[in-house]
Amino acid sequence: MSVIAKALLTRPTRLRTNAVLRDLVAEHSLNISDIIMPLFIIAGDNIKQPINSLPGQYQYSLDQLSKEALYLAAQGVHTVILFGVVTDKDSEGSAACSDDGLIQRAIVLLKNICPHWLIIADVCFCEYTSHGHCGVIHNNDVDNDMTLVNIAKQAVSHARAGVDMLAPSGMMDETIRVIREALDNTGFGDLPIMGYSVKYASAFYGPFRDAADSVPAFGDRSTYQIDPANRRESLREAYVDDLEGADILMVKPALSYLDIIRDLKETFDRPIACYNVSGEYSMIKAAAERGWIDGEKVMLESLLSMKRAGADIIITYFAKEVARGLM
Ligand code: PBG
Repeated sequence: MSVIAKALLTRPTRLRTNAVLRDLVAEHSLNISDIIMPLFIIAGDNIKQPINSLPGQYQYSLDQLSKEALYLAAQGVHTVILFGVVTDKDSEGSAACSDDGLIQRAIVLLKNICPHWLIIADVCFCEYTSHGHCGVIHNNDVDNDMTLVNIAKQAVSHARAGVDMLAPSGMMDETIRVIREALDNTGFGDLPIMGYSVKYASAFYGPFRDAADSVPAFGDRSTYQIDPANRRESLREAYVDDLEGADILMVKPALSYLDIIRDLKETFDRPIACYNVSGEYSMIKAAAERGWIDGEKVMLESLLSMKRAGADIIITYFAKEVARGLM
């Protein structure tokens, strides 16, 4: 065989012979600086309530949240996204917009005890409405434009509390434009927005809805979230958010939508986030509990697949594990 023919023969296994070498050539890795941890805040005192369908995750009252925040900070977690679990629900979800609301108080508290943290607030109404939908109901469905008025109020109240980033998740048209305008008009022009730009109508959100007490009382969310059958429609949604000024574009869920993460990565020059949602987490936890899979390895493999698909940022309930370097 000629020298050239020999040189052309590749032996990919040469770069796999030991861990140091494999790490040297690894194309992707996980770092806590790219991870956002979801936290559920519940009204009341002295509550650290385990969430059955999300093993290892809890609902925290504000006093317990302080303790958990200090622990998380010591572990190296420093970016969180907050969800509220409230009892004072009404048809419009007005508790979400109060300057004295649960999330607003959580923001003030966290900024005090962990000043270096990046605090993101989910902007949505499903946790605050008596019917569990993501906005104002009119003719048995969510009314997009009536909801926009409330979205602006909620966003500004989070901003006044001192939040670092807003993440609207309700999938109403023109959400980013309305929030951007409201923030710019109230002196919060520097606050970034992470759009839940491509959010599918997914059954993978099941455990979250238990955790956030946000199961819709009637119907489902398929009149506002994207049909899982569609790929090109996700680009349309992302284009709109991009044009309206979203600073980060998100795909949600992650694991069944890796193709969409890749599409956005190749189409837009903004950072791409994905949400490794509750059902994706709980499936791994459940199978690992039964001894059917090695939970840590499957977790690592699935988070890496999101990176490989193109995610710059991952929102995940596995944040603590990533921080502890279990990966
Ligand atoms: C809506 C919202 C949902 C999630 C995050 N924000 C649920 C929904 O659309 O029903 C789901 C997150 C998860 O499943 O982990 N505010």
